[in-house]
Amino acid sequence: MNIRRMKATDLAAVAHIDALSFNHPWPPAAFEIELENPNARCWVAEPTGHPPDSRTGVIAALVIWRVLDEAHIATIAVHPDFRGQGAGRLLLQTGMQSAYAEGARIYHLEVRARNLSAQKMYLGFGYEIVGRRPRYYHDNGEDALLMTLDLTRSKPGHPGLDSLPMPLRDFLTGDIL
Ligand SMILES: CC(C)(COP(=O)(O)OP(=O)(O)OC[C@H]1O[C@@H](n2cnc3c(N)ncnc32)[C@H](O)[C@@H]1OP(=O)(O)O)[C@@H](O)C(=O)NCCC(=O)NCCS
Repeated sequence: MNIRRMKATDLAAVAHIDALSFNHPWPPAAFEIELENPNARCWVAEPTGHPPDSRTGVIAALVIWRVLDEAHIATIAVHPDFRGQGAGRLLLQTGMQSAYAEGARIYHLEVRARNLSAQKMYLGFGYEIVGRRPRYYHDNGEDALLMTLDLTRSKPGHPGLDSLPMPLRDFLTGDIL
């Protein structure tokens, strides 16, 4: 799997993956805007085999917004044919690692309350559920869960970077892929 920054030539494939992944996908132009957004970091994953979107080979996309020491996972999606094979984790790891190198220490996101597979992925990265927005999603009235990974706090359950499990600490502070 190759993880790299998103380019304009990826936009059609990224919008397609987004449309396959969400009831309310981003308008395709939104990704174009994010490519120009100085606070956004846009990433894609490409497999080394035969991708479904052969024009670019992109099978997953991630957008992270970063302001000062905070990063927000704006969107992440893996093409349905490629889920459960590690692409989502590798993409998120790379994006978070890059954000960490740029100074991010607090990571936020919103996730649908019923999206247990995504929640499990975030929990595996050390995110915690810190809040709930009732009926946040207009399509079905589903709640949003707010999840945060705060590396600045040091207390039981919020150990801060130095006390993180070694693999998590190593991936955040290691070389960017
Ligand atoms: C959520 C998503 C990005 C995960 O990407 P992925 O490539 O399928 O996930 P990975 O194979 O890298 O797995 C990473 C972890 O996610 C969790 N996970 C992934 N698929 C899962 C499933 N079907 N059931 C439960 N947990 C699952 C697991 O914790 C997994 O770690 P593990 O293999 O050690 O158990 C992907 O499923 C997706 O695009 N979903 C639709 C869009 C979406 O929900 N985006 C998130 C919005 S907040």
